[in-house]
Amino acid sequence: MEQEKNMNTSAENTNQKPARKRMLSGIQPSGDLHLGNYLGPLRHWPEMIEEYDCYFFMADLHTLTVRQEPAALRRRVLTQVAQYIACGLDPEKCTIFIQSHVPAHAQLGWVLDCYTMFGELSRMTQFKDKASKHKDNINAGLFTYPALMAADILLYQPDYVPVGEDQRQHVEICRDIAERFNGIYGPVFRVPEAYIAKVGARIMSLNDPGSKMSKSNLEGCVTLADKPEDIMRKFKRAITDSDTERCVRYAPAEKPGVSNLIQIYAAATGKSYEDIEKEFEGMGYGKFKPAVGEAVVELLRPIREETERLLADKSYLESVYRAGAEKASYFANKTLAKVYKKVGLVAR
Ligand code: TRP
Repeated sequence: MEQEKNMNTSAENTNQKPARKRMLSGIQPSGDLHLGNYLGPLRHWPEMIEEYDCYFFMADLHTLTVRQEPAALRRRVLTQVAQYIACGLDPEKCTIFIQSHVPAHAQLGWVLDCYTMFGELSRMTQFKDKASKHKDNINAGLFTYPALMAADILLYQPDYVPVGEDQRQHVEICRDIAERFNGIYGPVFRVPEAYIAKVGARIMSLNDPGSKMSKSNLEGCVTLADKPEDIMRKFKRAITDSDTERCVRYAPAEKPGVSNLIQIYAAATGKSYEDIEKEFEGMGYGKFKPAVGEAVVELLRPIREETERLLADKSYLESVYRAGAEKASYFANKTLAKVYKKVGLVAR
């Protein structure tokens, strides 16, 4: 219904294939990208840009809700732009930009703050989580973060927002805000849907296979920037299971550590679980762990090398995010102007 009401907005699509659905996703540059990110959603994105008109941005304004080391933040944003390209997001085929380069995000964020209720923000599980983790810095930005995220999304009138399960609630509140606003002023925003992406593999920590691989536990986490020797060390030290059979067999409930390694090996080599079990039959974990390490080294090598090459080519990288910001601003400013007019601000 909403989609139909808002059909007029699709005329704004200047892409050669106007019929393509639009998709937008933000990524917080709050830590290094890792193998779990890659084998999960990231690896599937190059297919998505063929099918959808995709916008990807580095949500640098969002990371300010938690204290950042300024130089490290700057470096991570640029590294992530380079890594996205290195992972196959061709900037000719999608739009890659940095959130703070498009001021309309902050501008619409303020307006939407005024259409977002204290009560609904208080119910956000991520706010409660983060507030309990950073008790010394429960700032207003952390609280109103979902309104900024709603602005990020609604500025571009996307059809879909690909997010992980942890962000579903934020897409829900974005829809609520959009519907509330549209209810007052008419169909200004397209009401987007969460797109829970093809999950790919759910990769667990190498030294704590009960939890997801995460940058907060670096020894159990292989980052896209890790050197081969680091990757090998982490795999050789990977926790395997203390069962008596000591064989390479996929059984996630009984053997979470080994099963995680099998999953990684399968994703890295394209081999099936059965073939892997056969390949390592009669061998202990001692042979298996370095084999997985080597497969991952080879999987990540081209990405790391291409990232390094791109980071050394500052002017190319700049040209990508500047062109991205330019294209993004064009759409964003259109929506913002409409919103300003609707709420009664005087045009400049
Ligand atoms: N909040 C998201 C996260 O932490 C990042 C994000 C910011 C985002 N703005 C967005 C995701 C807009 C999708 C759409 O992962």
